[in-house]
Amino acid sequence: MMSKKENLNQETLEAWEANAEVWDARMGDEGNDFFNILCWPALASLLDPKPDSHILDIACGNGLTTRRLAEMGCSVTAFDFSANLIEYAKKRLADRQSKVDLRVLDATNESQLLSLGEGKFDSALSNMALFDMADIEPLFRILPKLLKPNGTFVFSLTHPCFNNASSMHVVEEMDDGEIKTVYSVKVSRYMNPYSQRGLALRNQPKPQVYFERPLQYYLNLGFQNGFVVDGFEERAFPSETPQSTPLGWGGKFSEIPAALVVRMRLTK
Ligand SMILES: C[S@@+](CC[C@H](N)C(=O)[O-])C[C@H]1O[C@@H](n2cnc3c(N)ncnc32)[C@H](O)[C@@H]1O
Repeated sequence: MMSKKENLNQETLEAWEANAEVWDARMGDEGNDFFNILCWPALASLLDPKPDSHILDIACGNGLTTRRLAEMGCSVTAFDFSANLIEYAKKRLADRQSKVDLRVLDATNESQLLSLGEGKFDSALSNMALFDMADIEPLFRILPKLLKPNGTFVFSLTHPCFNNASSMHVVEEMDDGEIKTVYSVKVSRYMNPYSQRGLALRNQPKPQVYFERPLQYYLNLGFQNGFVVDGFEERAFPSETPQSTPLGWGGKFSEIPAALVVRMRLTK
């Protein structure tokens, strides 16, 4: 019989397989504002990838970050557990395949992770994916073996404090001598990990499962496995960014970070 985590992992896989086409169409070659404004500038600066370095792209989706890294001259091994998304990634790579190795692999499975090769990677990257994984403990346990000494792991998350599955976007009007419209976020769950179904894209055929964890969960998991944190950026949309929907993330929430990017480094 499958454990609860295995069941949730299976449901997650089925959702990503079903949603792959819509996801690929939405992200395209260049990604959306969330990626380009919030994630990529901080990922690129914290990863600081050198040409010819070997980077592991974890849960690469349709290969958005994989292509950027390959364009910067890196060798990239990229994986995702959705075979459909890896097919889209292969198509989008087209003639840039030579420095990229794309694989179908489950990040919750230690032996699959070990098959990537020990001591092979200068750095690992994971954009907006750890909260999509039913279990991140195997990944944090195995990553120190896959990385070279003092290797780095850079990952982005929807900000666990402000942008989790319990978050509600609120707009209110107040009068303090002038009429003001105030945008805020209300959060009702944070401390205890939980999972909840949700829609990353409004038109996706099947809800996916979000795995919400407090910040201390991620940080302590890193510390227990030999990492320190040596880079950290909280990312909010600049106030001039147009709203995607009236209450969606955009410039109205410029004081609230929708994402964060962390760099962890092995101490040995
Ligand atoms: C929000 S998408 C991000 C994709 C990509 N990193 C990007 O920036 O476009 C999350 C990805 O996590 C993948 N994923 C979730 N659980 C996984 C697992 N256990 N192993 C590998 N990939 C997984 C999904 O298939 C999906 O492609």
